[in-house]
Amino acid sequence: MSKTASDPKETSDDLRNVFGKYEGHRGDLIPVLQDIQAELGYISNESMRQTARFLNIPLSAVYGVVTFYAQFYLTPQGRNKIKVCLGTACHVRGGNKVLDVVTNRLNINPGETTPDYEVTLERVACVGSCALAPVVVVNNQVHGAVTPAGMSGILDTIDGCCGGCAEKKNNPNGDDKS
Ligand code: FES
Repeated sequence: MSKTASDPKETSDDLRNVFGKYEGHRGDLIPVLQDIQAELGYISNESMRQTARFLNIPLSAVYGVVTFYAQFYLTPQGRNKIKVCLGTACHVRGGNKVLDVVTNRLNINPGETTPDYEVTLERVACVGSCALAPVVVVNNQVHGAVTPAGMSGILDTIDGCCGGCAEKKNNPNGDDKS
């Protein structure tokens, strides 16, 4: 299980647990990195250094793989992940307005995580559900035909969602900037 938002840093035990499952072959690099990310929620600089030592490969090789594959994150991720699709179909059907709702309420931009590590926001190019555009994926659940108001409602349902969401819940009849 990955670290919680409030404890995004690794301990040497975390990495020892991961390395203990492998014999240190360089071909283990991707599985090791996947396990580290599953454990920590991201790939820290220290874990890359230790992985390079464990597999006896250059740090640059580890860094190259981590930065090549979109599945790996270099920074701690939020407990919840919101992916707003801005592929062509979603873009022409108002995906940008949906994204604006999220950025305004959480006060983060795509690629960023809220300071309490509750939510990470991503902009994606296409999730393969163009017929449902505009599409938003929240923690792997696909929401189709999302309107700005609908996005606001989705944010209200995210457990632990922070900042503007709490404000909105406390002031349901207040001004909605979306
Ligand atoms: S463009 Fe958004 S799902 Fe394909």
